[in-house]
Amino acid sequence: MDSILVKGNGPLNGQIPIAGAKNACLTLMPATLLTDAPLTLTNAPRLSDIKTMNTLLSSLGSEVAMLQDGQVLVLGTKTISNHVADYDIVRKMRASILVLGPMLAREGQAVVSLPGGCAIGARPVDLHLHGLEALGAKLDLRDGYVHATASGGLKGATFEFPFVSVGATENLLMAATLAKGTTVLKNAAREPEIVDLAQCLRAMGAQIEGEGTPTITIQGVDSLHGATHSIVPDRIELGTYMLAPAIAGGDVELLGGRISLLEAFCEKLHEAGIDVTETKNGLRVCRKNGRVNAVNVRTEPYPGFPTDLQAQMMALLCTANGTSVLEETIFENRFMHAPELIRMGADIDVHGGHATVKGVAKLKGAPVMATDLRASVSLILAGLAAEGETIVSRVYHLDRGYERVEEKLSACGAMIERIATV
Ligand code: EPZ
Repeated sequence: MDSILVKGNGPLNGQIPIAGAKNACLTLMPATLLTDAPLTLTNAPRLSDIKTMNTLLSSLGSEVAMLQDGQVLVLGTKTISNHVADYDIVRKMRASILVLGPMLAREGQAVVSLPGGCAIGARPVDLHLHGLEALGAKLDLRDGYVHATASGGLKGATFEFPFVSVGATENLLMAATLAKGTTVLKNAAREPEIVDLAQCLRAMGAQIEGEGTPTITIQGVDSLHGATHSIVPDRIELGTYMLAPAIAGGDVELLGGRISLLEAFCEKLHEAGIDVTETKNGLRVCRKNGRVNAVNVRTEPYPGFPTDLQAQMMALLCTANGTSVLEETIFENRFMHAPELIRMGADIDVHGGHATVKGVAKLKGAPVMATDLRASVSLILAGLAAEGETIVSRVYHLDRGYERVEEKLSACGAMIERIATV
């Protein structure tokens, strides 16, 4: 398992290109199951999760070509030759559940392993299942698998989510495109990745209105055709790298970034004393010396502050001037980066869904362990500003969601390198 060595090396200066969104790509790829025509995705991120989704779709009968060093994906599913999404693949990546809706919509049958929990929480899929039942699916849970059937096809219906779920909205949105009649999804997720999926499905011939609002209306069609779609920039990668000059100081331009993807996050950065300006190529973040202001953060579904940036923001606030309180409202166990930051000298008190962070003047480098994707990158950010060396182990977590992090940061002057360990 590789580790990453980071040495605090002062302010960062330069440019960082932002890749296509992992969480958009992971829902766009299963859309190939909805049609027998080719689906081309450009601006795809080069990540291990994308390779895992490729493996899963290929096991179902899809053909996936990864062109231009993995930045262009051409997916074709002339026939679905296997209707079982196997536990061995699904357990590696929870987004695998997103093959359930499209496969059921096209074939009237699907068998998908329950994904199980992960480090940040139990992460059930009951909303996915209840929503598909509302569309007429018959579901039988046995042996750790969902056995789903929809004889005669899915039927349009109105379904109100009891609380916002990104994945359940995506699964139902895809399923509804081929359901007979009209589907109305209420209290739907509004994330930019949902909007991106809807735009791609529309390009494939789907009839969808209201994406990005709490109510999405879908008129089912008999079939979908192919399309070419450019994946939206990754707002979580964007926010993560905006925090690099915020924590270490300096002046960095994030190529492809847009404030519209991260308004709540940019407001918090402004409150902390970090100004973000739009350039013709993206976003510019610069911070001269001095400590940032402490701010309070509460994670919420989009357009609120993203839970996927909570760990990274905590790293910044560990060195702020004053005390900050972070409230995590989306996942029940998403403060596992706190004990690792404490090893670096941070002053953090976690109680339930709240973490109180008393800023310290300087963190100290230390050996730390990545526990999940976003926790791993928050430790790297902390290492950029710490005195001495930080070694982050178990960086396979990192490779799931950040392409070539050490290249992107060292291009801006960071002292960071990957240490291959047997
Ligand atoms: C997506 O996960 C993202 N993953 C997550 O990003 C992100 O943190 C999350 O949305 C929230 O924005 C992908 O898009 C692949 P949810 P998802 O359904 O769809 C509960 C990252 O770091 N829930 O919106 O699984 C759930 O347990 C990852 O890139 C149910 O109870 O999130 C959670 O507490 C981490 N039943 C809350 O709802 C369900 O059926 C929100 O989950 C579904 C969800």
